[in-house]
Amino acid sequence: MQTLAGKVAVVTGGGGGIGRALARRLGQEGMKVVLADYDTDLLAAAEQEMTDASLEVLVVPVDVTKRTSVDALRDATLERFGEVHLLCNNAGIANQGSGPIWDLEDADWRWSLDVHLLGVAHGCEVFVPVMMAQDQEAHIVNTSSGNGGLYPIPTTPTYAVAKAAMTTYSECLWGQLRAAGAKIGVSVLFPTGYSPGLLNTGIWNQRERPAEYAGSEPRPLRRGLEIFLEKAKEEGREVQFTPLEEVADQVVVGVTTDQFWLHVPSEASDQKLRDRLESIIERRPPLYLTTPSL
Ligand SMILES: NC(=O)c1ccc[n+]([C@@H]2O[C@H](COP(=O)([O-])OP(=O)(O)OC[C@H]3O[C@@H](n4cnc5c(N)ncnc54)[C@H](O)[C@@H]3O)[C@@H](O)[C@H]2O)c1
Repeated sequence: MQTLAGKVAVVTGGGGGIGRALARRLGQEGMKVVLADYDTDLLAAAEQEMTDASLEVLVVPVDVTKRTSVDALRDATLERFGEVHLLCNNAGIANQGSGPIWDLEDADWRWSLDVHLLGVAHGCEVFVPVMMAQDQEAHIVNTSSGNGGLYPIPTTPTYAVAKAAMTTYSECLWGQLRAAGAKIGVSVLFPTGYSPGLLNTGIWNQRERPAEYAGSEPRPLRRGLEIFLEKAKEEGREVQFTPLEEVADQVVVGVTTDQFWLHVPSEASDQKLRDRLESIIERRPPLYLTTPSL
């Protein structure tokens, strides 16, 4: 999709972090933006920010784990804007459950798979038919993660497994859309490989679990970023953050040039990828993995 101005974008997980930065950037490109998120406080703040900047926005509370909720998102989008050209399936949650993988419960797996895999599937099931019927250029961006889609981190299995599954889902989607002759591009975004480094978003911290995903006992709400920064301080390591605008730029370039794999080339992450593929081809154990500390 070469031009964005005047077109309509839907961004899930658009209330905070990468989704909100992306929405702002798409708005600045002249797109009408539908911001969809589970967290209504974040949505209200994002809406304020967009309207203060005179950007055209519609906010819709959504739970991507529920097909009916994503159906309602489509209806609200079409009612307001009449069409849709860009879908960013971006909603995400932190890794669920900690400790040995064999001790995890169904609830840990289900929440992650429902958000990261089924959430993306729901977005595609609902919006692809609309895009096909429009018969105009359109594009879908699915947010995966280096952790899972490219090289899994053993200590975060529910997150890494779901992101890897969603990456494969996106490859199948791309292939089927090509086979169907659809004018719909697909990208998989890996927000990784940036310099100086970390992205300061809500994904670091665990959220209150919806009741349907409650495990057999209450889970501590792990404040991942605080723990990380504390450890870095103890070790005398400097931590720097990458502006979220860099991720938004990457998406705009990816969509307008129709790139499937959206990750920043860096020597370190490229080497990890090579190591991974070589370990598979040469039938070696996956030595590229960091040693798990349970
Ligand atoms: N921040 C990073 O370093 C990083 C790295 C790799 C991948 N990602 C991915 O980027 C995406 C955006 O994450 P972020 O880092 O901006 O974190 P974030 O927590 O700031 O944003 C994620 C948003 O998704 C929303 N959300 C969660 N569950 C939802 C549901 N069921 N329905 C609708 N919305 C829901 C949250 O309310 C939140 O606003 C995620 O898919 C995440 O996995 C982030």
